[in-house]
Amino acid sequence: MKVFITYKIPEKGIKLLKEKFHVDVYEGKNFLTKGEMLERVKDADAVITQLRDPIDREFIDAGKKLKIIANYAVGYNNIDVEYAKEKGIFVTNTPDVLTEATADIAWALILAVARKIIPADKFVREGKFEGWKPHLFLGYEIYGKTLGIIGMGRIGKAVARRALGFGMNVIYHNRKKVEDDYKYNAKYVDLETLLKESDFISINAPLTKETYHLLDSEKLSLLKPTAIIVNTARGPIVDEKVLYDLLKDGKIAGAGFDVYENEPKITKGLEKLNNVVLLPHIGSATFQTREKMAIMVAENVIDALEGRIPKNLVWK
Ligand code: DGY
Repeated sequence: MKVFITYKIPEKGIKLLKEKFHVDVYEGKNFLTKGEMLERVKDADAVITQLRDPIDREFIDAGKKLKIIANYAVGYNNIDVEYAKEKGIFVTNTPDVLTEATADIAWALILAVARKIIPADKFVREGKFEGWKPHLFLGYEIYGKTLGIIGMGRIGKAVARRALGFGMNVIYHNRKKVEDDYKYNAKYVDLETLLKESDFISINAPLTKETYHLLDSEKLSLLKPTAIIVNTARGPIVDEKVLYDLLKDGKIAGAGFDVYENEPKITKGLEKLNNVVLLPHIGSATFQTREKMAIMVAENVIDALEGRIPKNLVWK
């Protein structure tokens, strides 16, 4: 049986698969073109996909022998899940193993934006540091402030858990109230209240039809002028052009981006603002996490190809 991997993943996962199947792994530096993807999936029994691969009807139809589409990510908005399901193809993701790493990046962004870490570092490197001054790089206090979390799933909860150490008041908005929110001292509120009351906002929701542009111009206008917003989930949850305008006009204090509406493109002008931190979608990018993701994705494929239901099916 053949497993097609659209972009090289850590060796441990590939090794597990090579013990059992023929593995066709793309080793190039750039990405496969659509035509190449369609060609290579033709005789594949399984495919391991990346969050940037659009797994649409055309791709699914081309994979005539496919039994599983195993996404190397927790998010799976790149896959037409309904269509795959209709065709009897499993779709899996890699939850849990990347929760802590992604929550760390949300916090890295909160701290970096609030305390102006990137411009301050640049200032020293450029030889501009002349000595301590009372007004040098004043930022925003985090301790004791209100953190609003949009999406209180695994990653949202891990972000909330870290906030306890910062003595923060945590509020959250989610499709529904979370049963164990007391563990995080977090209070369920409606989205408007969250946007009006938060000093820091962390987006941790999946991208779905319901969350697309959840933060549009009307919602973003509710933010405090001192608010800082960070997104480690999916770019299209926020109307990026509107957010850019607010940041450019100083209507909010800052933002941290790990994801973008039209990734890998960013809204023109964002790169010139000094109240933003821009990361290249590295939420889960630690050696340990990426290795665990590779093992998990391989185990899902092995289960599917050996006739078992994979553990991380995206539908229950
Ligand atoms: C995911 O797995 O969905 C993340 O966005 C990767 O960092």
